Amino acid sequence: MKLVTAVIRPEKLEDVKTALAEAGYPSMTVTDVKGRGKQKGVEQTWRGETYRVDLLNKVKVEIGIIDDEVDEVLGVLEEAASTGSIGDGKVFVTPVERALRIRTGETGEEAL
Ligand SMILES: Nc1ncnc2c1ncn2[C@@H]1O[C@H](COP(=O)(O)OP(=O)(O)OP(=O)(O)O)[C@@H](O)[C@H]1O
Ligand SMILES: [Mg+2]
Repeated sequence: MKLVTAVIRPEKLEDVKTALAEAGYPSMTVTDVKGRGKQKGVEQTWRGETYRVDLLNKVKVEIGIIDDEVDEVLGVLEEAASTGSIGDGKVFVTPVERALRIRTGETGEEAL
C-alpha cells in the first residue's frame, strides 16, 4: 500500500476531486496548508513596495491506494492539477505499513 500526498493549487481541488473519482478513487483526505517550493514563495508589489509572501496557500490531498495503482493516480493528478505555471504543486508517494477500516475491522488492502 501507498499513501499519495499531493500538494496542489486550491483552485484545482474541484478538478482533482472529480478526476480522481472518475478514475475510481473517491476516497481522500483534504487539508488546507501553506507551503513554498523552489521560488520560496512569490514577490508581490503593493503601493510601490515590493514584499515577499513566503508561504502560499495550497491544498494537501492524501489518497491511500494499492501499489499497482500508483502510476494511474499520479497520471490523474498530473493531468488534473496542472496549469503549466510555477507553483502547480508536487506529489509524494510513501509506503503504508498497515490500514484498518474501523467499521468492519478489515485490515490491509481490504481496508482501503
Ligand atoms: N521538497 C518539498 N518538500 C515539501 N513540500 C514541498 C516540496 N516542494 C514543494 N512542496 C510543496 O508543494 C507546494 C508547491 O510547490 P511548487 O509547485 O512551487 O514546487 P517547485 O519545486 O517550486 O516547482 P515549480 O518550479 O513548478 O514552482 C509548496 O508550496 C509546498 O507546499
Ligand atoms: Mg514553486
